[in-house]
Amino acid sequence: MIQVNDKHIRRQIDFGAYEKRVDEIHRSIEERTGAGADFLGWAHYPETYDKEELKRIKAAGKEIAENYEVLLVCGIGGSYLGARAAIEALNGLHNHKGPEIIYFGQTLSPTYVKQVLDYLEHKTFAINVISKSGTTTETAVAFRLARDLLERKIGKEKAAKAIYATTDKEKGALLQLCKKYGYERFVLPSDIGGRYSVFTAVGLLPMAAAGIDIDAFLAGAKKGMEKYGKAGLNPAYVYGIIRHELYKTGYPVEMLVTYEPGLVQLGEWWKQLFGESEGKDHTGLLPDAATFTTDLHSLGQFIQEGSPVLFETVLDIEKPAQDVVIPHDADDLDGLNYLEGKTLDFVNKKAHDGTLAAHEEVGNVPNVLITLERLDAEGLGELMYFFMRACAMSCYLNEVNPFNQPGVEVYKKNMFRLLGKPGYDK
Ligand code: PA5
Repeated sequence: MIQVNDKHIRRQIDFGAYEKRVDEIHRSIEERTGAGADFLGWAHYPETYDKEELKRIKAAGKEIAENYEVLLVCGIGGSYLGARAAIEALNGLHNHKGPEIIYFGQTLSPTYVKQVLDYLEHKTFAINVISKSGTTTETAVAFRLARDLLERKIGKEKAAKAIYATTDKEKGALLQLCKKYGYERFVLPSDIGGRYSVFTAVGLLPMAAAGIDIDAFLAGAKKGMEKYGKAGLNPAYVYGIIRHELYKTGYPVEMLVTYEPGLVQLGEWWKQLFGESEGKDHTGLLPDAATFTTDLHSLGQFIQEGSPVLFETVLDIEKPAQDVVIPHDADDLDGLNYLEGKTLDFVNKKAHDGTLAAHEEVGNVPNVLITLERLDAEGLGELMYFFMRACAMSCYLNEVNPFNQPGVEVYKKNMFRLLGKPGYDK
């Protein structure tokens, strides 16, 4: 069970006062009656997912892993952040097993795009293009370029076999391409939005290709559903209440802190989940993320003594996936023999305790502690589900729709008009 500890938030919350409201919101999620209710498919997806499709996802993942040096994951926002977060969290940043995963379609930078295309000239590669709408400019342009390269390298017929598409079941430009060229197709259900889609083929296919145990990941999500989809003040709802209280009492910024570089992309996923869900009607917490101790040597000064705008949510992993012991050195010129025989986890945890005391007691920064026992595929599935439930609760407590993103359309419309896209001349 994920633990949420509110002992370091520098205030007492009357959780009882929230019980009725939380219960109403919980029922509105379960009965699909709240704002954005058409996009609640994720809430029970760990149970309702298409079992036949899961078999195809596993087979496609195996096929990719066995036949290609690189998998190009072509998607943006919710169409790639979950997969990337999971792959980096579970496989680490220097993984030598399985195909190399390259993320594409998440930028319009000509430099990045050209660098990737040049790199792929000398590699065998498959593409997983992921877009619910099929019309997202970044992804569509990148896919056109990558497909063109692939077809030039291996011919149209073989290229079609190396392209896997994840898109809406019934509509969209990508669906038309699948039908015309016969790409293997996976579904992002119409009642699940991108940032809530990590348990669908959107997250699972790249993860399967990367060798991750997606059965365990889904089992974790299901455990999450049972624990955090339960009525009452479950830990996800408690976290939602704490966020709401801290926001109301003068903290507009939440910083997600981890002590694991492999979780940087989880922070990106979390930022999108909460930022895009909650930042509406000129309300909501600004989500930020930092990795300690790395960022203690950059942002640490601001957190300790800068403007008092933020609280920290520290994600603690009780047992690290791996550990090392600090060796003896006969000369001890670096003066580290006092740590001889200690594990690095021991040192990391002491850094954690010292930082908590510094930030909370001296810096007056509220700290919410979230503890996950183990960061494996199952634990991560549970954690991601936990955050999704907490996010829905937070948004409804703030009276905003957790599942739309009307603000994102503004830049798109301007860009389309400036690019001369038909239909966007005004
Ligand atoms: O969470 C979301 O809904 C967004 O981030 C989308 O996933 C993102 O904009 C990509 O959209 P699409 O999958 O339609 O290309």
